[in-house]
Amino acid sequence: KKPKITVIGSINMDLTTTTERIPAQGETLHGLSFATYPGGKGFNQAVAAARAGAEVSMVGAIGDDSFGQELSQMLMEEKINPVGVRSIKGLATGTATILLTEGDNRIIVVPGANGKVSAEQVEAQKETIAESDMVLLQLEIPLKAVEKAAEIAYEAGVPIILNPAPAQPLSNQLLEKITYLTPNETEISEIVSDENIHRLQDKLIITKGEQGVVFYQDGHPVNIPAYPVEALDTTGAGDTFCGLLSARLAQGDSLRNACNYANAGAALSVMKPGAQGGMPADSDVIQFMRDRGGGSET
Ligand code: RIB
Ligand code: NA
Repeated sequence: KKPKITVIGSINMDLTTTTERIPAQGETLHGLSFATYPGGKGFNQAVAAARAGAEVSMVGAIGDDSFGQELSQMLMEEKINPVGVRSIKGLATGTATILLTEGDNRIIVVPGANGKVSAEQVEAQKETIAESDMVLLQLEIPLKAVEKAAEIAYEAGVPIILNPAPAQPLSNQLLEKITYLTPNETEISEIVSDENIHRLQDKLIITKGEQGVVFYQDGHPVNIPAYPVEALDTTGAGDTFCGLLSARLAQGDSLRNACNYANAGAALSVMKPGAQGGMPADSDVIQFMRDRGGGSET
């Protein structure tokens, strides 16, 4: 049976310029290429989970512009149920302006319609959330909406993954409802104080890029190494990881196996341009892990 996952989060159009270097103040530079890609942490994670075989529903918002139309078409093509996605009149769809240089990206997100996702809108999807096997959250929509989703899921006994990105301080009230928290190394210090980290240990899955991920078992760190690949575009690698992790954990996989699978998927995703480009189907991940000998665990 396909696991049911509900993603409450952002939907963006990514405007990606590839350049040899970042222009200095007042400087005009010739870039190498430009392309638009579907993005937003919410949409990206939804796509990752759907391609891995989950039945995904989404709650979010787009504007009534051409980007919004394109993105709602793409949601359908990815077989994501847009049950809670609103199109908001007079607002622009969220955008992410991305400067991609070799091995590095710089991103400016303008929330647009994402900034209007409300607690009431989330409340209206109470049933969908409560019937899920897993709820997947990020921080690109108003915190009130995230908190409402966590509250509904928690009360219904549905496990929650919160990818705390972009990072902001979070209340203990929210954190205690979260089953798994997936910060990267810089985000972790921004969401919790050092003295609170200890209490969160059992929830933490820290993503460390090329070093893979770390979680804690009986107070001891467990490292699940990454699969080394030649990265072309690392945008959305963390989203691929979270989406795949949710799909596997919702199926009852162990944390260790789910992290290994998600690492493999994230490696595949960075070899193609665009956040969603390169996000693998389940069979691609299995094949890749087989080719790589399953990945060495330490
Ligand atoms: O995590 C990557 C995403 O962050 C991009 O797709 C961009 O939209 C930004 O929100
Ligand atoms: Na990609």
